[in-house]
Amino acid sequence: MKSADQKSYQRLLVTSALPYANGPIHLGHLAGAYLPADVYVRYQRARKRDVIFICGTDEHGVPISIIAEKAGITPQQLVDRFWADHFDTFSRFGISFDNFSRTSAAIHHQTAKEFFKVIYDKNYLVERTIQQFYCTSCNRFLADRFVEGTCPHCKQAGARGDQCETCGSSLEQTELIDPYCKVCGRTPVLRETRHLFIKLNEFQQKLETWLKGKKHWKKNVLKYCRGWFKKGLGERAVTRDLSWGIPVPVEGYEDKVIYVWFEAPIGYISATKEWADKIGQPDRWQDYWCRDDTQLVHFIGKDNIVFHAVIWPAMLMGHGQFVLPAEIPANEFLNIHGEKLSTSRNYAVWLGEYLEQFPPDPLRYYLSVNAPETKDADFTWEEFQQRNNSELADILGNFVNRTLTFARKQYAGRVPPCHDLDALDESMLADLKQAPEKIGQLFEQFELRKAAYALIDVARTANKYFNDQEPWRSVRENPQKGQTTIHICIQVVKTLTVLMAPILPFSAEKVWKMLGLADDVHEQPWDGCGERPLSAGHELGLEEILFKKIEDKQVQPEIDRLRSILAEDKGQTMSSGENQKRKQAPGIVYDDFARVELRVARVVSAARVEKTDKLMQLKIDLGGEERQIVAGIAQHYQPDELIGRQIVVVANLQPAIVRGIESKGMLLAAEDADGKLALLTLDRPAADGAKIK
Ligand code: MF3
Ligand code: ZN
Repeated sequence: MKSADQKSYQRLLVTSALPYANGPIHLGHLAGAYLPADVYVRYQRARKRDVIFICGTDEHGVPISIIAEKAGITPQQLVDRFWADHFDTFSRFGISFDNFSRTSAAIHHQTAKEFFKVIYDKNYLVERTIQQFYCTSCNRFLADRFVEGTCPHCKQAGARGDQCETCGSSLEQTELIDPYCKVCGRTPVLRETRHLFIKLNEFQQKLETWLKGKKHWKKNVLKYCRGWFKKGLGERAVTRDLSWGIPVPVEGYEDKVIYVWFEAPIGYISATKEWADKIGQPDRWQDYWCRDDTQLVHFIGKDNIVFHAVIWPAMLMGHGQFVLPAEIPANEFLNIHGEKLSTSRNYAVWLGEYLEQFPPDPLRYYLSVNAPETKDADFTWEEFQQRNNSELADILGNFVNRTLTFARKQYAGRVPPCHDLDALDESMLADLKQAPEKIGQLFEQFELRKAAYALIDVARTANKYFNDQEPWRSVRENPQKGQTTIHICIQVVKTLTVLMAPILPFSAEKVWKMLGLADDVHEQPWDGCGERPLSAGHELGLEEILFKKIEDKQVQPEIDRLRSILAEDKGQTMSSGENQKRKQAPGIVYDDFARVELRVARVVSAARVEKTDKLMQLKIDLGGEERQIVAGIAQHYQPDELIGRQIVVVANLQPAIVRGIESKGMLLAAEDADGKLALLTLDRPAADGAKIK
């Protein structure tokens, strides 16, 4: 973000993507759209900017209907449950929304309908009759994910009606091969239906011009948009034949609903209206939405880019009365132990479960310092533990603790006076003075990783300062120097507390108390926080351990759980993470090789298979287990040559029937250019059935 921009904005409206109310919140959610936004907002509040932070649940759409149907409850019951669950989880993680609304709220239905009507009245919508799948057994049109089938591009089964998760292509449902109804599994029929389409093409030029002013945006966002412009924006259906959703406010369309991706972003507006109502200033929302000196910032995950950076701005342009997004910090994905997160396989870290074991701040810190800003990041429990122990506990926590303990023991728990400064004191104070500006710049630029590093760096520098000044020595040899050192260290602790508050809000509150300060640390101004020492004589509070070390035995069960999910999958299909690895790396990993069970086998008997030239039928002994295999070696070996010899077989190959004979295994042989075979045998005898590695 340019600082010039900064000055012209009077207020900030920050949003996080509205999470679907169809399942609990996991790590990937937090890392992508919620934590970075919360840290940013907390920082902006400390800068005393006029900022509100808006979110809520996205409660319509097909998956919600399907999940509710399968659970035997109504969609409303489902979203009620997950609205409450999300609200609770976010609060416990300190995600400090000013309002957490929901798209089933009356105010949203009304706002979305009005918005839709404006777009319709301005002739940006056009009616089209299309062919759509209809399930005659469920008696409904199969919108979006209600229909699945085989992807026409990658040929993987289980592709959804709107997108294939395996290859990422976006699909028209009629392209699906072997389509089936997601609910009852039956093959749907094609029927005609009418829908309203938004003419996005009419906005393309305006959008392109607008995006030219956003050169500082993240590359991932710009690249995505350019891709869309290149393909050319077409028409997109904005209505659906569904019963769960917001009824279309147009005559003749009463039994259809607004497409969830059309109405959900309008939720940002409705949620702001609701906020204004709640604070008793019902018109206040207009300050944020209707004045162009508002900086609108949408935090999202990368899967939401096109909706926020292309379609939503087009809708806003079409409507004409609201601000356009100024910033769209889109984050990449967070993998877990090298694999793509998958909620359906429970390969995820659920925040509710995390909180049963650990406090929120260590995770907030780890997800900040390891934020998926410009590329996918990887979460591992080992790194979580290590960063907690060696950065939060050993550097930040340790500095706070040694300073306050020293003050209590040597100065009766009061701030000692400050005397003449030496060069080390001066340099520590200079670093401290710069810190708010330096870290602040990083927050402004959405550089959460670097900001978290810079924060720990201040504590690192402070530890070094403490060590170099050796207050334990000067307290005896040069008492004034000792007092000065600890006076400055306490000033560092106080500054650190303000600086850590956006990322580590709960810990900041603790330290503030330890400093004997009764007011709210989150109200402390960021600007100049490096230059506000506590006065000599101020009585400190009681110090306590700030960050507990995390032990192996606390993370091991989590690691084991994730591993066992992967191990289970290995038997079946490879996860996409592994597929990914395959594409990138030239070789296979050891695990791939280890899946092939190679063993030594002794040939017990051998005979040609009648009426074939090539096939030989062998009985082999795998050390107690006798098996029959059929091998294509009859043109290269005589049966007698084989009997009694030790050969190498793939023992875990799925059985096959060859010419009516069952074959349970495959022998190995080398084949040269003219097709001659040489059987693999052993250099010296080994036990029958011995494993080959
Ligand atoms: N529910 C969507 C998701 O989780 C995000 C919706 S963002 C909004 O991917 F802008 F549409 F609300
Ligand atoms: Zn059906």
